[in-house]
Amino acid sequence: MKIKVAVLTLSDKGARGERKDVSGEILKEIVEKRLKGEISFYEILPDEKELIKKKLIELSEKGVDLILTTGGTGGTPRDVTPEATLEVIEKRFQGMEILMMIEGLKITPSASLSRAVVGSRRGTLIINLPGNRWAVKENLLPLIPVIPHLLREIKGQSEECEDLRK
Ligand code: MTE
Repeated sequence: MKIKVAVLTLSDKGARGERKDVSGEILKEIVEKRLKGEISFYEILPDEKELIKKKLIELSEKGVDLILTTGGTGGTPRDVTPEATLEVIEKRFQGMEILMMIEGLKITPSASLSRAVVGSRRGTLIINLPGNRWAVKENLLPLIPVIPHLLREIKGQSEECEDLRK
């Protein structure tokens, strides 16, 4: 069965219709081509912590397998995606956060400015990604090999760990 994915873009400008959501479109392509998943939900929300929390909870209760957020992970006063995520997740996967950071730092020191969180709520995996068009790709691609197995784990369908050694 295909992985059901929700894409949530967090951007004040995007929500007001003042910025085209290029990152959301790039994510759609990666989900379909690399993850063999399907986008079952897509929305642009402003950078409001309570709105983001409410949406993450609602999507996890609807049974979405994976929520990819993009934007709001930096240091401006309006960037609250990691805080919202931390308040709703039950388990945190810091190794995946580190993996994104390590791979990002190989490309640009700007990667250090993201505070992206990865965690699960019930059977749903939530991955924060930075907002720019290069960052979404650079952060998500390194995680692709581990996502299917982790999804089975958090749903209690765990089996032997796949050997992903190169
Ligand atoms: N990570 C990678 N791999 N590549 C990037 O270009 N951009 C950074 C960082 N992470 C970037 C990246 C920048 S410039 C910022 S400000 C932060 O992500 C936060 O971005 P956000 O506020 O759009 O989430």
